[in-house]
Amino acid sequence: MTTVGVLRETAGRERRVALTPDGAGRLRKQDVTVLVEAGAGAHAWFEDIAYDGAGAVVVTREQVYAEADVLLCLHPPEDAAATRPGQLLVGLLNPLGNLELAQRLATAGVTAISLDLLPRTLSRAQAMDALTSQANVAGYKAALLAAEAYPGFFPMLMTAAGTTRPAQVLVLGAGVAGLQAIATARRLGALVTGYDVREAARADIASTGAAVLDTETGSAEGTGGYARSLSGDEQSAQQSALEEAIPRFDVVITTAQVPGGAPPLLVSENALSKMRPGSVLIDLASTAAGGNVEGSIPDTRRVTDGGITIIGANNLASTVPSAASTAYARNVLALLTHLMPGGEVVLDLDDEVQAAVVVSHGGRLVNARIRAAGQDRKETSE
Ligand code: NAI
Repeated sequence: MTTVGVLRETAGRERRVALTPDGAGRLRKQDVTVLVEAGAGAHAWFEDIAYDGAGAVVVTREQVYAEADVLLCLHPPEDAAATRPGQLLVGLLNPLGNLELAQRLATAGVTAISLDLLPRTLSRAQAMDALTSQANVAGYKAALLAAEAYPGFFPMLMTAAGTTRPAQVLVLGAGVAGLQAIATARRLGALVTGYDVREAARADIASTGAAVLDTETGSAEGTGGYARSLSGDEQSAQQSALEEAIPRFDVVITTAQVPGGAPPLLVSENALSKMRPGSVLIDLASTAAGGNVEGSIPDTRRVTDGGITIIGANNLASTVPSAASTAYARNVLALLTHLMPGGEVVLDLDDEVQAAVVVSHGGRLVNARIRAAGQDRKETSE
């Protein structure tokens, strides 16, 4: 009988948990033993007693590591060295951004599975798509955060004393998070415009009823449904079109990402300097090395000398922890159902889903993308 263990997240400010009591109950129905580290769900309002009620056993972290066949997490655990050879680790491990960790897990004999490597356009993988479920939560919260930080109303309000104008909101990048931000800002009554470099995303924006910003730059489709990086000329054309458009808006929410690359800079210092005081920018792509908005700092809200609020909002899913954990747990359960058809783990690296998400197995890196990334890095350093 398989034992699944749930680790408490230890990264600063992380409030999500990889499995909810409901998810634990579903695994119990399949005769899977579930161990949950004490306090694992506390920040998402899933108390130990609820896991206990669902048939899971609440234990220490050491016991989870010692007894579980399958470990569930969101972020790679800081104490991943505590894993045992043959143990399965499932999470959003970001192995493409952390090749050292991938190699360490391989050397330790751990079978690491990273949900961020899932082929997202494959329809049978959609129930496991944790990037989508978490981006959806982040996009929703981005619109709420913007409405809270904006000093006016989002909707047009008609009162006896007059009518207020609705906020003009621009969403840059219309993937999963961007489309949810558009939908949520529209529900709050703002006048919303969306923008993306992919033609398909422009059609998605139009289908929500929002206006589409046209910068007259061509479509930049990459592979797997993602965008590609723009060339230098495309970038400068985009920058000048955006610089002209952005000052017309009260709120700008940015979500643009390019797989394997730095997030594109979409709101330059120049564009910021032309915005009205009180304007708000929410940068979901904010990283320590820069984001979509010049000067955005991860996890930080700051106001510029010109009175513009810039919020670096890189981990918004964690701020809606119950909904985000519930969605993530469903993704994990879908993966486990696929991996454990009869209650025991059956690895099949010829399977399209498994070939994409299994990073390491049997003491080596087995993932083609990770191996290629490692080879690229080696060649660049030689
Ligand atoms: P993402 O987080 O990688 O990027 C967000 C958005 O930023 C994308 O729409 C991208 O086109 C846009 N972007 C990149 N560079 C830009 C620039 N310079 N200017 C403006 N916008 C820029 O995207 P996400 O949300 O992870 O989705 C990636 C793709 O995966 C999308 O095509 C989505 O439709 C597809 N997908 C498909 C699913 C399915 O078929 N079931 C499920 C989920 C996603």
